[in-house]
Amino acid sequence: MKIIMLGAPGAGKGTQAKRISEKYGIPHISTGDIFRANIKEGTALGKEAKSYMDEGKLVPDELTVRILLDRVSKDDCKGGYLLDGFPRTIPQAEVLDKELEKAGDRVDFAIDVEVPDESIVKRMSGRRACLKCGATYHVESLPPKTEGICDKCGEKLSIREDDKEETVKKRLEVYHKETEPLINYYEKKGILETVDGMQDAEEVFSSIIAILDKQG
Ligand code: AP5
Ligand code: MG
Ligand code: ZN
Repeated sequence: MKIIMLGAPGAGKGTQAKRISEKYGIPHISTGDIFRANIKEGTALGKEAKSYMDEGKLVPDELTVRILLDRVSKDDCKGGYLLDGFPRTIPQAEVLDKELEKAGDRVDFAIDVEVPDESIVKRMSGRRACLKCGATYHVESLPPKTEGICDKCGEKLSIREDDKEETVKKRLEVYHKETEPLINYYEKKGILETVDGMQDAEEVFSSIIAILDKQG
């Protein structure tokens, strides 16, 4: 099963992706997490990506596509995968489709998690992220069991540098211009599914499972 998570920054893609990947036993691949891991390790890739991310801009397609195709070629992806934050532009989606076609394969579901812009800034300001395992928390709506510590792996939680209000606004702008057109792209392919991201995280998850189990 190959699944794509669509939705604005802060819509809850990562929160849901983590749960879906656990339930269905497929790897959760987040290009944002890959970039952040590289920033943390101080690699050349991380340095390049950081210059874009800190400004709320997209990392160039060429670089992003290379990283993603390398990741999905790994053995653990043979039985399917869940992409979170990729594709983010029409050219990225086209490259992915072409690669899959070569292998007689395709994306099964594109799930759009819908949350209005007004709610996004609030979510981001309370977000706490684990840079080690990718788990995400919220100080009010989804707090960790111990304040400041990841439930899953015990790592100290961080505030993401791109979660400042100004940067979040820029990311939303970029989302509407570059990424939102993908909704139409996948609708035309007949694989778009929409879920209401304003429900609580558990309800969003149930809505997604209902979609995947009905058709999957
Ligand atoms: P990325 O890491 O992908 O960030 P994003 O798309 O901006 O999305 P977020 O991770 O911010 O939000 P999310 O939807 O995962 O929400 P979350 O579950 O955390 O990308 C970062 C940057 O990397 C980009 O800006 C770009 O520069 C670069 N990049 C990455 N991929 C790229 C690509 N393909 N091409 C080019 N550049 C790329 O939830 C948010 C908060 O809300 C959390 O605190 C959570 O606890 C809370 N929450 C979640 N669900 C609920 C709920 N139902 N109710 C209440 N609170 C909730
Ligand atoms: Mg995320
Ligand atoms: Zn963790």
